[in-house]
Amino acid sequence: MTLLYENIAEHLLKAIEQGVYRPGERLPSVRQLSQSHQISTATAVSALRHLEDHGHIEARQRSGYYVRPRTRSHLQEPALSAPSGEPSRVTGQELVLHLVKAANNPRFIQLGAAVPSPSFLPTQKIEHMLAACSRRYRNRITGYEFPPGAPELRRQIAKRMSENGCPINPNEIIITSGCQEAITLALRAVTVPGDIVAIESPTFYGLLQIIESLGLKTIEIPTHPREGIALDALQLACEQWPIKACIVVPNYSNPLGYCMSDQRKRQLIELANRQRILVIEDDIYGDLGFSLQRPTPVKSVDNEDRVVYCSSFSKSLSPGLRIGWTAPGPALLEKIEYLKYVTNLATPTLPQLAVAEFLRHGGYDRHLRQARSRYLQAVERMTAAVAASFPAGTRVTQPAGGFVLWLELPAEVDAIALTQQALALGISIAPGPIFSATQKYRHFIRLSCACDWDERVDEALVTLGQLITRMAEK
Ligand SMILES: Cc1ncc(COP(=O)(O)O)c(C=O)c1O
Repeated sequence: MTLLYENIAEHLLKAIEQGVYRPGERLPSVRQLSQSHQISTATAVSALRHLEDHGHIEARQRSGYYVRPRTRSHLQEPALSAPSGEPSRVTGQELVLHLVKAANNPRFIQLGAAVPSPSFLPTQKIEHMLAACSRRYRNRITGYEFPPGAPELRRQIAKRMSENGCPINPNEIIITSGCQEAITLALRAVTVPGDIVAIESPTFYGLLQIIESLGLKTIEIPTHPREGIALDALQLACEQWPIKACIVVPNYSNPLGYCMSDQRKRQLIELANRQRILVIEDDIYGDLGFSLQRPTPVKSVDNEDRVVYCSSFSKSLSPGLRIGWTAPGPALLEKIEYLKYVTNLATPTLPQLAVAEFLRHGGYDRHLRQARSRYLQAVERMTAAVAASFPAGTRVTQPAGGFVLWLELPAEVDAIALTQQALALGISIAPGPIFSATQKYRHFIRLSCACDWDERVDEALVTLGQLITRMAEK
């Protein structure tokens, strides 16, 4: 249900998008809004704050709210990807270990791994919740919290999922150690080695590593940087090959950053029902969108129990807490719960209780309001720096949420060589080939924008631009 202040905010946003209020112009005052819309001043303030939280407007002291200048890039977006239509084994993931090690090295400029810098995370509040829970649950935290996991956390997650369009019972949720484990368990529950799994292309390399480690094959489906996985190509692949499951990141995918429309989400479910395939939905970025409404998950239109929903708090709260979950639906619930138990017995108790507390006291929502607007600013800043320093022919995505950019560089650039040269200069980036099972995207890179911006980052982007220009001229 949309609240009144959200409707007013939507109305104002439409006016901004239609150019009624231009960047830098002042919006109507609280009093004018409340008079013209016949609403209370509190509702008018909430509507303006809602727009501010999402980065569309900014408050100026004693002067009111103004439309935020948006850095719209003049760079084109990459086109729909065109991977080969044959199932294959995953290869070429060795480079990822270098990337992960660089991410752990504080001396590197971190533009590679999609890990937000601590300054984007509510570190003090997490510290406080961990300390409070370790005192309050002194005895309980020393023991296992066996699957399905802490009831209070599952209750809080069920509440949030219901608010997001997926009414669910807490007993249908299993806590996992991150989203990576949730997806691994889902795949282990429904596949045997040699089975084929369809994936978006490009896709997050962690998914490729799970597929590789389980001895599965994968078929890469073309994916559009605005619309998501190409449903006609997925349909064709299902007709040609015995595909068991399809993994999608429909809300602010990594690395493309698109958000699939509700209509395409429904079409995906119709396709899955027709073809009898399982959809593994990774919604890890779902809370980090730049639009006013949180997008609904594919799970919300799942009418034949085909979606295994997986997510975590790694991008929104803290990756180190390792708190994720899955809502697999009744058919797979027991199997996945058992697999979780035999894998590592339990997810650590203390972070489960601390996250439950954080969700219960509303700290999470407050944090998200700030985080979304900071991520949007970080993405815009990085886009502007790329536009200023990278050579002509560079294309860049315009993500609808999250904090990564996917860049297509001039065709002469070798992203692996570029990554190695950049690492030697203390700059970590993610090369395109690790986002493909068969090492495509040779001239693509991904940049993470959630870093602490200072002159070193400015210089790193200039350096990257010079390296790329040199390679493009060869
Ligand atoms: C799309 C996607 N899924 C899953 C993960 C892994 O999540 P977690 O750290 O919760 O295991 C990541 C992390 O980068 C990701 O980008």
